[in-house]
Amino acid sequence: MSSDETNDFIPDHLAQWWKITREYLLAPNELPGVSSGPGAVAPAAARNATWAWLLALGCAWAPVTSLAAEPLALQRIMKDMGRNMQVVVDGLSQEDYTMVEKAALAIADHPQPPLGEKMRILSFVGGDTARFKAFDGETHDTAMALAHASRSSNGEAAIAAFQKLQSSCLACHQAFRKPFVEHFHGKAESRR
Ligand code: HEC
Repeated sequence: MSSDETNDFIPDHLAQWWKITREYLLAPNELPGVSSGPGAVAPAAARNATWAWLLALGCAWAPVTSLAAEPLALQRIMKDMGRNMQVVVDGLSQEDYTMVEKAALAIADHPQPPLGEKMRILSFVGGDTARFKAFDGETHDTAMALAHASRSSNGEAAIAAFQKLQSSCLACHQAFRKPFVEHFHGKAESRR
């Protein structure tokens, strides 16, 4: 029967899950003042940041449940992403590639929700955490590609990258937006 498979399955997947969860919770770009420029994050600083987050993790448990009714900071972050996409469109039509690059970098390095909220998100996303994170990574990578194309004032490449970026937003929205809105805001449906 399947008992052997089960024995293989659990530790591997648990380890994988924990790795992704840890990466998500301890992502360094949440820290103020950490730029994404080359060599910006010194290893020692990154280690200290990790310990700071482990400490914060302990303190964050308490308010997690009491925050259940508050809107997500993620929503505000998303609104900013939407605004930056509009800046990209304006920049492309004006051939102002500095403007495009700046907005693309802001999308790539968008702020992260506070730790307590990340824990709420993780507990909701559960087994889909890897997928959620992969979508986020895809958006980051395509936004960086857009920034690079803009830096060399390559209009065609920038437009192609922009299209990929939009598809990456859409992919996550199609998979997660509705369940998030229903779970965390929960009003759209019940108001009717
Ligand atoms: C990893 C998943 C993910 C990716 C990638 C993503 N989004 Fe979102 N987005 C969401 C979720 C989840 C919501 C719903 C959040 C909520 O309502 O609390 C959302 C909501 C939004 C909203 C609506 C906010 C509001 O006013 O309620 C906008 C605008 C938005 N996203 C823009 C973008 C743009 C632009 C990109 C790509 C550059 C993007 N998102 C990439 C998950 C994602």
